[in-house]
Amino acid sequence: MAVDVLLGLQWGDEGKGKIVDVLTRKYDIIARFQGGPNAGHTLEFEGKKHVLHTIPSGVFHEKVCNVVGNGVVIDPVIFKGELDKLIAQEPDVLSRLKISRKAHLILPSHRLLDAASEAAKGKKKIGSTLKGIGPTYMDKTGRNGLRVGDIQLDNFQDLYNNLVTKHKQLLSGYPDFTYDLSELEPTWFEAIEYLRTLDIIDSEPYVHQAIKDGRTILAEGAQGTLLDIDFGTYPFVTSSNTTCAGACTGLGVAPNRIKNVYGIFKAYCTRVGSGPFPTELFDETGETIQAQGHEFGATTGRPRRCGWLDLPALKYAIDVNGVTELMMMKADVLSGIGNLKVCTAYRYKGEVIEHLPYKLEEDLIEPIFTEVPGWDEDLTKMTSEDEFPKSFKSYIDYIEKEVGVPISLISVGPDRAQTIMRK
Ligand code: GDP
Ligand code: IMO
Ligand code: MG
Repeated sequence: MAVDVLLGLQWGDEGKGKIVDVLTRKYDIIARFQGGPNAGHTLEFEGKKHVLHTIPSGVFHEKVCNVVGNGVVIDPVIFKGELDKLIAQEPDVLSRLKISRKAHLILPSHRLLDAASEAAKGKKKIGSTLKGIGPTYMDKTGRNGLRVGDIQLDNFQDLYNNLVTKHKQLLSGYPDFTYDLSELEPTWFEAIEYLRTLDIIDSEPYVHQAIKDGRTILAEGAQGTLLDIDFGTYPFVTSSNTTCAGACTGLGVAPNRIKNVYGIFKAYCTRVGSGPFPTELFDETGETIQAQGHEFGATTGRPRRCGWLDLPALKYAIDVNGVTELMMMKADVLSGIGNLKVCTAYRYKGEVIEHLPYKLEEDLIEPIFTEVPGWDEDLTKMTSEDEFPKSFKSYIDYIEKEVGVPISLISVGPDRAQTIMRK
């Protein structure tokens, strides 16, 4: 069997968690392939809201195995906290969770380094979630990191001490940054003890065997394409490959095993943290979208910046990922805001361009918008596309025609049930 991939096409928070949960009944295995507790994936059903950070979003389905892949970085403390909450509602959850031996560990000193580095950047800060993501991936590529498999070794404490010594040296380069590591370590080691009791596996052979056995696998991405370390708005990005290639390296899946690539996007754009955002709105319309869309970060609670849909960016994301099906989220939020704008090109250094340039900084580029009719109808109770207002249908047709990929699913609200599969 092949592996399908689901990922975000914008700056994260597109609604990936909701759709993984919706699609899970079609799969045997859900596998997270990158990122860590910087992610916040929200699921809503039966009147309850759940936010997952490191645990795959298939976890509420009984017969599905959830794999935390080698490309993920795990903070044991956050991981344990997440599981404690889940177990209270789903006592069997541990029987459906497997963790890759090769996933890297976030140490308390990684979080300190993240905080120190961000504070030192001042106005140029990335707006990191301060979960230690950057420093942990730096240690991974720098070949210094600790992996989940290391906690099963006799010399784990030595490995830990060696890495922390390096981190203390690095922290001494930030003389204004004060910290107390000894306050953080006991909880971290408690969580490591807990992690040792979980199902730690060699995840690549597990995935390979599952493919051979004909089991169906959905790879779940975190963040979004424009936050990708290579293809995002560098340096205002995260530190992993959030794109389809990340599913290959983050799970050990060969490229020719990937079949469907589901690209999730909002009917508008949002971004949390710093960095360029060409279609950002600074007016009342932006505030209305933020309020109606409850656009506040699921991990940090920070307000999300809001703006119009950006077609050059969306097309780029579709190409980088080889998206086969699009899924459009949150169009219900746009009801009643009047005519909509869609960015179709940029004015860049005096020229009109339709691709994403090297830098998206606002002093260099200006978005060119087309105006399309909006709609006033409430979409949230609609259950079939036949009920959609004419101008919403036109909006869907327009996007499909522009980007050349079908939109197979429309989400009209946060609940699992508010999902319309298109014919
Ligand atoms: P993720 O990180 O991609 O999983 O997305 P988040 O969970 O961070 O953010 C998406 C937010 O939008 C969550 O609060 C969801 O409950 C909510 N949401 C998802 N789909 C829809 C939708 O179609 N309409 C509305 N109004 N909210 C949605
Ligand atoms: P999900 O999976 C939105 C952003 C941060 C910051 C930048 C770098 O929920 O879509 P990091 O902590 O990774 O060093 O932060 O990336 N960011 C996200 N924005 N959704 C996310 O995840 C994000 N994960 C990181 O705000 O700008
Ligand atoms: Mg999120």
